[in-house]
Amino acid sequence: MRYFIKTFGCQQNTADSEKIAAFLASKGMTPSEDYKHADYVVINTCMIRQSAENRAYGLIINLKKIKTSRKKRLKIIVTGCLAGLAHKDRSGKILASLMERFPEVDEFVPIEEVGIGETPVRQDQSNALVPISSGCNNYCSYCVVPYTRGKEISRPYNDIIGECRKLRQKGYKRITLLGQNVNSYGADIRKSKTKKPIYVKHLGKLRIPTLFPHLLHEISQMGFDMVDFLSSNPWDFSKELIEVIANNKNISRTIHLPVQSGDNTVLKKMNRWYTKGQYLKLVKQLKLRIENLKLTTDIIVGFPGETEKQFQNTVELCREVDFEKAYISLYSPRPLTASTRLMKDDIPYSVKKRRWQILENLINKAHL
Ligand code: 5AD
Ligand code: SF4
Repeated sequence: MRYFIKTFGCQQNTADSEKIAAFLASKGMTPSEDYKHADYVVINTCMIRQSAENRAYGLIINLKKIKTSRKKRLKIIVTGCLAGLAHKDRSGKILASLMERFPEVDEFVPIEEVGIGETPVRQDQSNALVPISSGCNNYCSYCVVPYTRGKEISRPYNDIIGECRKLRQKGYKRITLLGQNVNSYGADIRKSKTKKPIYVKHLGKLRIPTLFPHLLHEISQMGFDMVDFLSSNPWDFSKELIEVIANNKNISRTIHLPVQSGDNTVLKKMNRWYTKGQYLKLVKQLKLRIENLKLTTDIIVGFPGETEKQFQNTVELCREVDFEKAYISLYSPRPLTASTRLMKDDIPYSVKKRRWQILENLINKAHL
């Protein structure tokens, strides 16, 4: 049996696919160069925007043609965010409608059930991806992740340390720690260990101080040339974390810090808790302590109700920060999210595209 895994979306999905590959190899399967020659195709899906979802549907349709034209059996397995959402939806309606729409798919399997305990078959032999947590509790109003990946769960501390030590012994020089909110790592562990956890107010929200600075420090002592981490949120970016980065030169000086918008009203509607001023203050602290810092970010344009003035506040923030790179998205309504339920997707596509182009020219073209 030959397998092919198609991965859509973020590096978390890439890391999951590396574990799926290990699981299939343990069943005696061998990898196929492309899906056309495979007997077993796993589609690891992303739902962050409609366009990502559509790409997975396109592949299913292509596979359907192969399946019907071929005598030989072809198994199609869908996992990742789409399967996650379908299985977490208690009404069962999402799964039922997917099964009806795509009868050629043999199974929709949540990622937790596809070989997640396996030692990954790593694609990149120099930079190892290490997931340290999964899921998200933040419920940004536009984001489907809490519904696809569920609540945030941190991996046991010693498992991560053990895996990183082994990677170092194997000769890996670079490592990337992954989590939807990588710097929230361990807040759930702390919460479960004490009845009354200590909360600290940071960027507008009461937070449990995380174990991430401690973990990052310990990993940075293992002798890697570079320790990277993705993706951070501003509200768990503590002074303690800034100090750990400042004091360990092998921690990446390129930090990804999604801002999403530079307008306080939009940020509030996004349920992002901080203000433009608070984000800028954090950036100032980072720049002050970390030499040669490069910041990258995520921005959404055309969020429901975003006025020209509000968009200009984002432009202004980008000018002030001088991001090295930005992943700019056009707002896309996602199932089950608060913004889809409560707000109208009222910004025309042409306006979203124009705003995207303005930021693209300002940030990404400027650094070419
Ligand atoms: N529409 C557009 N972009 C989105 N993102 C998340 N949800 C949406 C959505 N509904 C973007 C955010 C996030 C990145 C991973 O994807 O900018 O940080
Ligand atoms: Fe989505 Fe917000 Fe969680 Fe990031 S922090 S995964 S944008 S809900």
